[in-house]
Amino acid sequence: MRIDKELAEVAEFWSTRYRTEGFIWGTAPSPCAYKAATCFMSQGVERVLELGCGYGRDAVYLANQGFDVTAVDFSAAALALANSWTMRGDGAGRLDYLRDNLVDLDLAESAYDAVFSHRTLHLVVSRERLNKAFAEIHRVLKPGGTACVSLRNPRDPTQAKTHGSGGEYSEVSFRPGHRILFLSDAELTEIVEPHFSIVAHEEVQERESRTQNYEAALHFLVLSKGTGNGGRFAE
Ligand SMILES: C[S@@+](CC[C@H](N)C(=O)[O-])C[C@H]1O[C@@H](n2cnc3c(N)ncnc32)[C@H](O)[C@@H]1O
Repeated sequence: MRIDKELAEVAEFWSTRYRTEGFIWGTAPSPCAYKAATCFMSQGVERVLELGCGYGRDAVYLANQGFDVTAVDFSAAALALANSWTMRGDGAGRLDYLRDNLVDLDLAESAYDAVFSHRTLHLVVSRERLNKAFAEIHRVLKPGGTACVSLRNPRDPTQAKTHGSGGEYSEVSFRPGHRILFLSDAELTEIVEPHFSIVAHEEVQERESRTQNYEAALHFLVLSKGTGNGGRFAE
């Protein structure tokens, strides 16, 4: 796995959380996994790459829906937790875990019909890395492939109250020593559009965690990799 010092620190932050908190969001699938599965089914998708899979609550669900899933996370503790329960699930034969950094993936070009990522891309900390992450998603998707991704939205009332008025700010301290990107609609569109056609963009809410009883606001995007324009989308 190729990883810089700052992201290695983020990986360690997550490993510590998984070691101390275990199944942080429970084992039921996220709301975005249901949306992604419906979208992928309508397109006849077979191979799905999940980026930032944690302990596999969505990867297991997607495998159980019949997709062949490769689920990636850079936290060793996340994957240890994943392997402690998910391999016993029905989708076990359709699910592989891989330790890698989503900003610089060790995966072949055009290898997947679809990419899914939930509550992860804002963790790359800088806009430059987010741009690289979308370039990587574009690279590993086959032409005509689809990505369903969610990431933090500054309209989240709790975060706005804690960290500012929301809207235009980007890098904030979410927990002490833990920085994430809060991007407005316009900022996100500016980063995504050079890589993808935006098919849908809506807001989704999900409880912050099993122990934090408030709704986190997320951008949910459906993105299409076109088949023309040298691999970029064609209109
Ligand atoms: C907020 S958790 C969400 C986990 C999972 N998607 C879920 O909803 O249950 C974000 C996950 O992304 C992983 N992650 C963050 N940045 C990553 C990167 N650059 N490469 C690979 N995994 C990353 C973290 O280790 C963590 O497991």
